[in-house]
Amino acid sequence: MVLDGRIAVVTGASRGIGRAIALALAERGAAVLVNYASNDAAAEETAQLIRNNGGRVLTFKANVAEPAEAASMVKAAVAEFGAVDILVNNAGITRDNFILRMKDEDWDQVLGVNLKGAFNCARAAAKVMVKNRSGRIINISSVVALIGNASQANYCAAKAGLIGLTRAMAKELGSRNITVNAVAPGFITTEMTDGLPEEVKEMMLSQIPLKRFGGPEEVAETVAFLASDAARYITGQTIAVDGGMSCA
Ligand code: NAI
Repeated sequence: MVLDGRIAVVTGASRGIGRAIALALAERGAAVLVNYASNDAAAEETAQLIRNNGGRVLTFKANVAEPAEAASMVKAAVAEFGAVDILVNNAGITRDNFILRMKDEDWDQVLGVNLKGAFNCARAAAKVMVKNRSGRIINISSVVALIGNASQANYCAAKAGLIGLTRAMAKELGSRNITVNAVAPGFITTEMTDGLPEEVKEMMLSQIPLKRFGGPEEVAETVAFLASDAARYITGQTIAVDGGMSCA
């Protein structure tokens, strides 16, 4: 159990990639705070899957875009489990549109959740980690931060911003034995991507050297590695889990 005794906070863990990450960390022995935005039943389902495996779990509803809610979430993890050793900033949303049609609120909401949300949670968790002189922060970016994507200016900007945030925090927090890395998933089959038109999916598939979409558990395995001792000398990096999509 490579994460035995560790305490993890995973944002947006009620479904999709976040749920797979929460399960992967719990399977390896970590106690997990499952954060979510609104769906109580889905968060409870993630928690039940962890409990069924004998894991320790707490669900916590909080909008990561709100600094006070992010801080309460970290406090709840400390109150329940005693610390925060691992923070995974996974919560994310899309509001796609061509730039000429993109509304201010589409820009603000995506930057607010995907980028400021990660900052809010990292700032709150880093206070605990600095005191403990140990920590792992893993930011879930996206392949589109590396290669761009039409109709996702807001999302690409937020996800590229996360890579800058990752590097800055890695430099700032390294002396306290805190590593900060990003994972950039490619096209992963989840509810976020299920709704995309077939022609978009086919176009994406044609750009993937491995000729298939990824599964949430394939992203989760990389996150679990970065959270483990095996990754203790890796910081400030972005690892693409994208079937080779960004290598062309
Ligand atoms: P999803 O839409 O299935 O799940 C998103 C999760 O974020 C949900 O649990 C939702 O409750 C939570 N969330 C949304 N807004 C929130 C807020 N304000 N506060 C707290 N939680 C909030 O998405 P999926 O596909 O699982 O994606 C997870 C992450 O991976 C996102 O950051 C996404 O941008 C990123 N990603 C996904 C890819 C994909 O192909 N599915 C590709 C690259 C990156």
